Amino acid sequence: MSDKKYDIGLMGLAVMGQNLVLNMVDHGFNVAVFNRTTSKVDDFLASPAGKAAGDRLTGAHSLAELVSKLERPRKIMLMIQSKDAVPAPEIALYPNSAAVDAVIEELLPLLEPGDIIIDGGNTQFKDTERRTKFLAPRGIRYIGTGVSGGEEGARRGPSMMPGGDPEAWPFVKPIFQAISAKVGPNSDIPCAEWVGDRGAGHYVKMVHNGIEYGDMQLICEAYWMLKQAAGFTNEELYETFSQWNQGELNSYLIEITRDIFTVKDPETKQYLVDLILDTAGAKGTGKWMSQLALDLGVPSTLVTEAVYARCISAMKNQRLAASEVLSGPALTRVADRKAFADQVRQALYASKICSYAQGFVQIQAAAKEYDWSLNYGQIAMLWRGGCIIRAVFLERIKEAFDQNPNLENLLLAPYFKKEVEAAQTAWRNVAKTAIELGIPTPGFLTALTYFDSYRSPVLPANLLQAQRDYFGAHTYRRVNKPEEGPFHTDWINVRTVK
Ligand code: ATR
Repeated sequence: MSDKKYDIGLMGLAVMGQNLVLNMVDHGFNVAVFNRTTSKVDDFLASPAGKAAGDRLTGAHSLAELVSKLERPRKIMLMIQSKDAVPAPEIALYPNSAAVDAVIEELLPLLEPGDIIIDGGNTQFKDTERRTKFLAPRGIRYIGTGVSGGEEGARRGPSMMPGGDPEAWPFVKPIFQAISAKVGPNSDIPCAEWVGDRGAGHYVKMVHNGIEYGDMQLICEAYWMLKQAAGFTNEELYETFSQWNQGELNSYLIEITRDIFTVKDPETKQYLVDLILDTAGAKGTGKWMSQLALDLGVPSTLVTEAVYARCISAMKNQRLAASEVLSGPALTRVADRKAFADQVRQALYASKICSYAQGFVQIQAAAKEYDWSLNYGQIAMLWRGGCIIRAVFLERIKEAFDQNPNLENLLLAPYFKKEVEAAQTAWRNVAKTAIELGIPTPGFLTALTYFDSYRSPVLPANLLQAQRDYFGAHTYRRVNKPEEGPFHTDWINVRTVK
């Protein structure tokens, strides 16, 4: 038996796992692989890609064998996503939780102090917080990393967002930075950098996914406004999105949207997009982000509206029935289609800025809550390549945080302030048109509401506090006595109308 030692071991040979392995092999790393169903190990080694990997790839039929094949300190990456595991309620919070915990438990007696376990699944960050803390005193260095970009990203270069035990990073960095997407003028800046302690990497990955939800929803609303309010054909939509992709909206999502409008169904010869049923699915990271935003008390309304938009889309039968009962305004068409399209572009851009502003505010709030020290500009850079939200726009975010690392909200950065203000009139016009014509645009409207709320020095919460104090003696503070209080009023006895 060969005593060759391998750079890294990977468990979990579903598509993502296999593609990461092949990517590592392409970059000269020696990789040992294992899978619970061991026939998948043999199948992978016997596949054309597995054969092409030659002696850079080896298989193992047990965790013990996998461990025995690795260079010290051993690095073992888990790419296991269990859809069916039932989590143990107190410790295992989310779907792949029980599976990863069980594998860690099995690995522990096989490892030595200094060895590294990496979880590359879509894990909820609290599990990563817990595991990093649990393993550190046992001498095991843990990394929980976001891996974004789907199957293609995993194969050709994903965006990677690692967090956990910082001591592990120098050992993993050469591998991650080699396999990740590269950006910059010379395509040499890796989209893989250390994010922060414990669950920080998985948190940032989750927010990335939530921002992706927001981007997609906003693009769908732009499409819908152009189609419904201005009667754009798919050819015109293609042209419009092509133009948009030349400017500040330039991004992967605008690009693929543009291309979607060109694809025809071979069977019916109609445009495929028009044949797709309008009910959306979701895997849950958008929901996590919304839930955690509520926990932190920060308004991440774009992702939340995007999640709800998917929910209501899935209520197809109810919508069909309700459409027979409930009526709205007559759908008229805007007069100047070209001018309107440009207004929609601006509404999309301004709303997108609000969405990213919310995402970063949530990351900042989480960093405070969970005691992570993060580099926000660098986080934006991690998303420039490899992942779904890759966009030119992210450079502006990096610049904004470079100018002010403590920037409270992207909307306050000089560049974004200028951009949103310039788009404001168009944005409001699109919102008005949507409301007048009865076209649902939850993303545009919530973004505008966020903008208007955030820039309001005074909100009607004075009345709200009065109501709370009236019925529940919840007390209030006074603007004319800011240092005093809290105050309570016996509203029933002092009110003038009896
Ligand atoms: P797919 O649907 O493509 O199979 P997936 O659900 O994203 O993929 O990932 C499944 C991967 O996680 C597989 O490698 C699976 O191992 P099996 O091939 O043996 O099913 C692995 N996996 C799922 N649950 C697991 C568990 N409890 N322990 C170990 N590996 C597990």
